[in-house]
Amino acid sequence: HLMSISDLTPSEFTSLVRNASNHKAAVKDAWSADGTPQSLSGTLTGKTVAMMFSKRSTRTRVSTEAAVALMGGHPMFLGKDDIQLGVNESLHDTSVVISSMTSCMVARVGPHSDVANLAKHSSVPVINALSDDFHPLQTIADFLTIHEAFPERVPTESSLGLEGLKIAWIGDSNNVLFDLATACVKMGIHISVASPVGYGIPDAMKQVIVSAGDGVASPGKLTETTIPEEAVRDSDILVTDTWISMGQEVDAQKRLNAFSGFQITNELAERGGAKPDWKFMHCLPRHPEEVADEVFYSPRSLVFPEAENRLWAAVAALEGFVVNKGNLL
Ligand code: CP
Ligand code: NVA
Repeated sequence: HLMSISDLTPSEFTSLVRNASNHKAAVKDAWSADGTPQSLSGTLTGKTVAMMFSKRSTRTRVSTEAAVALMGGHPMFLGKDDIQLGVNESLHDTSVVISSMTSCMVARVGPHSDVANLAKHSSVPVINALSDDFHPLQTIADFLTIHEAFPERVPTESSLGLEGLKIAWIGDSNNVLFDLATACVKMGIHISVASPVGYGIPDAMKQVIVSAGDGVASPGKLTETTIPEEAVRDSDILVTDTWISMGQEVDAQKRLNAFSGFQITNELAERGGAKPDWKFMHCLPRHPEEVADEVFYSPRSLVFPEAENRLWAAVAALEGFVVNKGNLL
């Protein structure tokens, strides 16, 4: 199962990102020659991937369906009004039944325990397509994007060669951050998080992130502040996400007030002292309050390649967990 990035060793994570990159190159070469991509064709023939989504999605849905199609399988989308995902039937029963008829479940849920429960009772691999706590497919795509944005950094067998980079996360401490930070610690990247008072990383989650460095030769560092400029200093990449994640809509106004002053702008980057050629990332969907247009639509912005890379991350994850049954190396 792929529940979160903390399930993966640095070598396994590196291998997923590298495979995503290799498949991207091979498939896009075939597409640009008007040919049929050969490298993946038939790897999921005869297999159905159940996509159980209890929350909205553009990128995760489209990338997963497209990845399964590229691999010759059948993606079966099951939205919250289609099946009994934790409503009127236990997750245990749902998991046993759906895994008896399919080769993989890709699930987007609220509480992380929902996807963990599906995995516990499933006879096939389960991939977390976002829970309230983690978003591993996004992190694989994000590291592919960072790898592409720093071509002078040479990957090795067990590392992407990104050690020593600094990422500044300016905004809410949420699911996207938790897996991104875990990967940073594993891959030797310093991640500095600026969130308003009361919106920092919960202690239990901090423990998960920091322990990602156990046994790692040169783990990355996690630092926290409530002052955006402090996090920005010397950063190579500025990252944010929505201030109001799915499920937090009732607190929207309170959150908008609390995050005032946290919008990523050119002025903030300059005042904070980001590196001169700093880049910008965002998992999308984006709202103007968390990042100004001047940054979001600028040449610094990696957001659209980052979104496309969700496809290649989905391909690599399905290959790793379904075709190769979790043997990622
Ligand atoms: N980034 C991301 O997961 O987008 P969706 O919610 O549209 O899938
Ligand atoms: N933090 C956001 C990410 C959406 C892809 C949410 O959970 O809604």
